[in-house]
Amino acid sequence: MQKEQWGSRVGFILAAVGSAIGLGNIWRFPYQAFDNGGGAFLIPYFIALITAGIPIIIMEFSMGHKMKGGAPLTFAKMNRKFEWLGWWQALISFVIASYYVVIIGWAINYFFFSFTLAWSGEPVNFFVGEFLGLTDGPFQLGGMNWSIVATVVVAWLVSFVALYAGVKNGIERANKIFMPLLIFMLLIILVRGLTLPGAADGLEMLFRPDFSQIMDAGVWVAAYGQIFFTLSIAFAIMITYSSYLPDDADIVNNGFMTALLNSGFSIVAGIAVFSIVGYLMNQAGGELPDNLSGVFLAFATIPAAINQLPTMSVLVGLLFFLALTFAGLSSFISINEVVVRSLSDKLNAPRKKVVIWYTVIAGVISLIYTTGGGLYILDIADYFINQFGVAISGLAEVIIIGYMFKLADVREHANATSDFQVGGWWNFMIKIVTPIVLGISVIQNFINNFTENYGGYATMQVILLGWLVAALAVIIGIAISRAKWSDESMLSE
Ligand code: ALA
Repeated sequence: MQKEQWGSRVGFILAAVGSAIGLGNIWRFPYQAFDNGGGAFLIPYFIALITAGIPIIIMEFSMGHKMKGGAPLTFAKMNRKFEWLGWWQALISFVIASYYVVIIGWAINYFFFSFTLAWSGEPVNFFVGEFLGLTDGPFQLGGMNWSIVATVVVAWLVSFVALYAGVKNGIERANKIFMPLLIFMLLIILVRGLTLPGAADGLEMLFRPDFSQIMDAGVWVAAYGQIFFTLSIAFAIMITYSSYLPDDADIVNNGFMTALLNSGFSIVAGIAVFSIVGYLMNQAGGELPDNLSGVFLAFATIPAAINQLPTMSVLVGLLFFLALTFAGLSSFISINEVVVRSLSDKLNAPRKKVVIWYTVIAGVISLIYTTGGGLYILDIADYFINQFGVAISGLAEVIIIGYMFKLADVREHANATSDFQVGGWWNFMIKIVTPIVLGISVIQNFINNFTENYGGYATMQVILLGWLVAALAVIIGIAISRAKWSDESMLSE
């Protein structure tokens, strides 16, 4: 029932890179680097890329290409017993989509604010107060913020149009528009950043390794988490996207290319953001700015820096927030495609119909994050679904594929059509290195979260918005996997 295909190899690479490059590169990567010792973060980051990122992306490409299904169908075809893992990952994507779109909505708002530098001299107060109308806690929703609702609707519409038009005419085309523009915009921001006084100090923070931090387990957890998020692995995305590849596609090469282009982009974005922060430091007489973490980096600190730019401030604001929007949209489309494909496989339903229903239902759910309590809910959901969703399902994936299937078959399939081949090192990474490092990270995370509530939130808040959401993704995933396929013959194709 393979109906759709990418139009060209470049089309696929652009879509895979478009999925990988997202908010994770422009906003998350720089602040993860800040939080985890600047240059010290880069070493675990590259080790995570080589030991987990590249091996898993090749594995997922090979699985999707071989089985030609969304993630649940792919796992079900490999062994009906493991269909739940595909649904779990699809539901993780569903949760991520529900808040990811709201950050895109903020970026679109900030694009318009850039024309007048509307955040004025108080970017933090503007962001939490005037813009978000932040309440005192996640259970105090306050009202819906209509300017955010409007932009969230716009982002859903873009995704809807791309998904409705299909793989080649919609997703591929959207990426062909977004990706070149994104790279062009980033380069302009980069040049502006690098030519600012103080840029070199910012870059020193990014690149000077601080070996004392490398023994800190938290830095490793963050690096592996960042690699999973940024490469869209264990999200079911890469399995889904590779299912649309033609039979003779080069799996290994495509995997390397996607991973390296994505990390290259992150480093360039990191250089741009750090040079701007270096400039802020320079203006403040060498003092490190506050609010370098989380959403504040993009929505408070960068605006603060834009205010102080000697020239081109409006332009930099417009480009930065448009870049964030485009990077976000191309990933958002891929996250939604996972759910759409999974449902249309299982129900044997026409794609267009699923796209309509999915967009309406997920769209309504996403509105919760547009309320005054939205930022808290987003913060908790994002943390838990990544730490206890993406990371654990990634761990389950490498264990299941590594030990309960013939991993050699997955490797042979990848090598069969590839110019250069993956060897024994690949098995070693999937079977030994990744499970050990991820396993330790996951245990460490459980311990941390049992000792102390994430982010200082109240216990009931983390239980309902964090633990429960992460648990429901796996429970509902198992439940759906028990249901019958509308067309059982698909499983044996
Ligand atoms: N890979 C996507 C990102 O980095 C999800 O934002």
